[in-house]
Amino acid sequence: MSMNDVKKLSIEELEAQVRQHNRLYFVENRPEISDYDFDRLVEELRERKPHSKVLSELTSDVPASAKKVNHDIPMLSLDKCYDEKVLQDWAAKFEGDVVASPKIDGCAVSLRYDQNGDLFLAATRGDGAEGEEITANVSYVMSIPKKIKKGGLEVRGEVYMPLSIFKSYKGKFANPRNLTAGAIKLKDPKGTGDYRLSFFAYDLFGSTEATEVEKYKLLKSLGFEVVKWRELKRNEMQDAFNDFLKMRDDFDYELDGVVFRTNLLAEQDRLGSTAHHPRYAIAYKFQGDSGETILLDVEWSVSRTGAITPVAIVEPVELSGAIVRRASLHNVGIVKKLGLSKGAKVLMMRRGGVIPNLESVIEQGSEAIKIPKRCPSCDSDIRVEDDFLYCTNSKSCVKSKVGELAHFVKAVGIDGFGEKLLAKLYEEGLVTDLSELYDLTRDDLIGLERMGDTLADKLLSNVDASKQVSLPTFLQSLGIRELGKHASKILSSFGSLTKVMSLSEDELSEINTIGPVIAREVVAGLKDKNSLIDKLLKHVAVVEERNVSTSWHYAGKSFLFTGKLLSMGRGDAQKSTESLGGTTAQSVTKGLDYLVVGDGGGAGSKLEKVKKLQSGGSKVQIIAEKDFLEMIKES
Ligand code: IVH
Repeated sequence: MSMNDVKKLSIEELEAQVRQHNRLYFVENRPEISDYDFDRLVEELRERKPHSKVLSELTSDVPASAKKVNHDIPMLSLDKCYDEKVLQDWAAKFEGDVVASPKIDGCAVSLRYDQNGDLFLAATRGDGAEGEEITANVSYVMSIPKKIKKGGLEVRGEVYMPLSIFKSYKGKFANPRNLTAGAIKLKDPKGTGDYRLSFFAYDLFGSTEATEVEKYKLLKSLGFEVVKWRELKRNEMQDAFNDFLKMRDDFDYELDGVVFRTNLLAEQDRLGSTAHHPRYAIAYKFQGDSGETILLDVEWSVSRTGAITPVAIVEPVELSGAIVRRASLHNVGIVKKLGLSKGAKVLMMRRGGVIPNLESVIEQGSEAIKIPKRCPSCDSDIRVEDDFLYCTNSKSCVKSKVGELAHFVKAVGIDGFGEKLLAKLYEEGLVTDLSELYDLTRDDLIGLERMGDTLADKLLSNVDASKQVSLPTFLQSLGIRELGKHASKILSSFGSLTKVMSLSEDELSEINTIGPVIAREVVAGLKDKNSLIDKLLKHVAVVEERNVSTSWHYAGKSFLFTGKLLSMGRGDAQKSTESLGGTTAQSVTKGLDYLVVGDGGGAGSKLEKVKKLQSGGSKVQIIAEKDFLEMIKES
């Protein structure tokens, strides 16, 4: 970037660039420009708009490029296993007990204390041989002692973000580990303090202890928060693993397995390490937390704030005992970064065993995911802000979608789903169309604020109870304009949903009390909702009208009245027909079944037309008033 390029930028462009690169560096931990170029952007903005809000948002004015730190003892990773057999094979190679501790999903750091016990250097793991200096940052991690009463030690452990703190960042960040990785390296170390990170110690060098247990105890006595640990016989490892798995939800941090280590340091020395991992330690990972599946599509959910969030829809995959069908992708930046495509083979994980997350693409699919140019919900303009998309019409946009859901649950009688809950489900991307109400799982619901097991189960059983719907209710529930209670009832008299779906505008407008306007809306509405109806039918059984309310032999048949009826008024005749499940037409059409000729005379042109149809081969029948009376008596 030349100086000239920077000068050519408008104030708005400058602000946008500073904001974007600040975010890439501080939050996402993946800078795209050098610190030097970033400084120039900031300086230019400071000169041209000293009071720009963007400047006050920056976490640091003058970024210092991170200093590299060599790890005298390499920071290795851990060998992994997924079953007891491999674990036992591992344990057969040494003597003595093992220690077990939860494998914390945070960022490994090394802390060095000088001869006086003062913390003088802190570093990230980096590539294991060389990390980045973060001494100033860790001074804002409260649980890291800055002075200890023993000198010349190196302490290692995991910096992590407690889940209770991560809660307020949920939705914006994929997981606490990424956020921790960004926060611990902030250029302005004070900023690190805002993230309220914590630290668990699990390793110690520079002292003379003979076992891991002694090391843990010393660390504790020096003022460190030590990772939870247990000393075990080697045949107790599986039980310990099961216990940690059971307790997993009780911890305020993410754990993705259990770390086992040989307790005796002499045995550790004997076993040694490979280039990647020590042979004296192993991580037994929680099973089924991750799995491969296929990305079917990306849906875009809109929140009341207008944020448009991509949601991955995947082929159902079982992870940690629950079926996962979807996962928030958080923002459009992630969709772009992963270069997602339909049909891609992807790796899904339930982070901390709970929140499903699309981790990576294993193999790309065929059709690139399209980034919406307009709001997918209300078609308004979209505003782009860094990695985020916003609907510019957020208020009415979400309201109408939630209104649609509310109409449906009311119509089919699913209790417990108020507008607030529906809005939440919609915003989280859990229910973006009516059919997805039936995909809800216990885990989906429990993930929501203020939702306990009992309420979640009750809601699911309410949804379950609504899986049989009468045809008129089903039609009305779709929220098609003009297809209210009355019109739905009339349409239902055609007997089946298939028949109703196949009705033409002309056929419908012939029905008394429907008319051309309603007919147009209804036919267009049904066409529009075709794929939604298909989706709903995968869950809902539509009980067709004939089976529910009437067994009238002529249900679904259409009747047209002509001439003066003597036994009753025409209106009453029409009402009786409709109440029995027949339909009434306004004029002669090809679909007509019966022309009822009143005994009072004056049949006129309708009769002529029907006769013509009959001579052309139509099956329409002409019946007298008394025949009609017989027919309705049969009900
Ligand atoms: S013991 C090789 N105990 O997980 C050093 N490590 O993925 C083993 N980790 O690099 C140290 N929780 O930073 C140990 N309870 C725990 C741990 C733990 C997380 C980290 C460690 C290691 C990484 C491997």
